[in-house]
Amino acid sequence: MTSQTITAAASGTYRLGDLTVHRVGFGAMRLPQHGEAFAADAVPRDRDQAVAVLRRAVELGVNHIDTAAFYFSPLRSANELINRALAPYGDDLVLSTKVGPGRDAAGGWLPHATPAQLRGQVEENLRQLGRDHLDVVNLRVVGTGSLAERFGALAELREAGLVRHLGLSNVHPHHLAEARAIAPVVCVQNMYGIGASPEQREFLRRCGEHGIAFVPFYSIAGSGRERGATTGDDPRVSAVARSHGVSAAQIRLAWTLHQGPHVLAIPGTGDLGHLAQNVAAGALRLSADELALLDSPGPDPA
Ligand SMILES: NC(=O)c1ccc[n+]([C@@H]2O[C@H](COP(=O)([O-])OP(=O)(O)OC[C@H]3O[C@@H](n4cnc5c(N)ncnc54)[C@H](OP(=O)(O)O)[C@@H]3O)[C@@H](O)[C@H]2O)c1
Repeated sequence: MTSQTITAAASGTYRLGDLTVHRVGFGAMRLPQHGEAFAADAVPRDRDQAVAVLRRAVELGVNHIDTAAFYFSPLRSANELINRALAPYGDDLVLSTKVGPGRDAAGGWLPHATPAQLRGQVEENLRQLGRDHLDVVNLRVVGTGSLAERFGALAELREAGLVRHLGLSNVHPHHLAEARAIAPVVCVQNMYGIGASPEQREFLRRCGEHGIAFVPFYSIAGSGRERGATTGDDPRVSAVARSHGVSAAQIRLAWTLHQGPHVLAIPGTGDLGHLAQNVAAGALRLSADELALLDSPGPDPA
């Protein structure tokens, strides 16, 4: 079976509240531009190419797409591309978005949104995606302070039917406890990959105990973060990749999926070949020895 014929179904499924998704999904942050995300001088991606990637992802069985209204370059918006490519949306497609600190029209980052501004951000996502409700809204948090007021505002939007499920992003364990006392949390979206710290691993494990999906970001990009996969790969990853005849990026994704049945992947790409590889990574099975090698101390902590 070639990577072209492996679909996201090979990764299995997990649930976001009452919504079931394939464990390999797609992150839309790379679509609005080439290269680094959020760069002021970003080169907008060709619209047809971005649309083709989104449509191919769905053809390959991807039914969980992560997006945000703040994913935009001067001439492209991830939400607009998703709407153009995929509306009218299939019944099984789950769109997860994020609210929190937004960006101004020139692309500069703004401070944390107030509860009223969070409502405005939810409405902005609804308008751009052309939907009447959002499947999943993650509150993205910067810093360690209380999220109670902001999460409470989102819980009210959930009660009002504008949002089906709530999640958290970029959070610490105490944030999850604080949020769960206010409303159910279906997912935690945090940076995670090979080289994760014991604290990160413990948090991932605890999410699983609560039936909360853990959704890593930068699993391929690692320390390249918004610049993308810019660095050379670590020899441990390269060795495992060689033995499977796949790419290092695929091994990085497969490793995350081996961290628990509740782990979902949302790799971002604007490249059709990389998309097919990333979907195919959901079919990779790593041995205990390979996992031990990838977990051994190495030169490239994520
Ligand atoms: N909640 C948050 O704070 C937060 C923060 C960051 C991201 N996110 C979400 O998480 C998603 C995933 O993060 P991400 O897109 O930055 O990181 P990623 O999936 O870890 O890596 C993306 C980078 O790797 C490259 N890449 C992708 N597939 C590849 C492959 N098979 N082989 C080689 N290179 C490959 C991409 O370039 P090409 O385009 O050339 O493939 C891009 O440079 C985002 O799209 C976004 O939806 C959330």
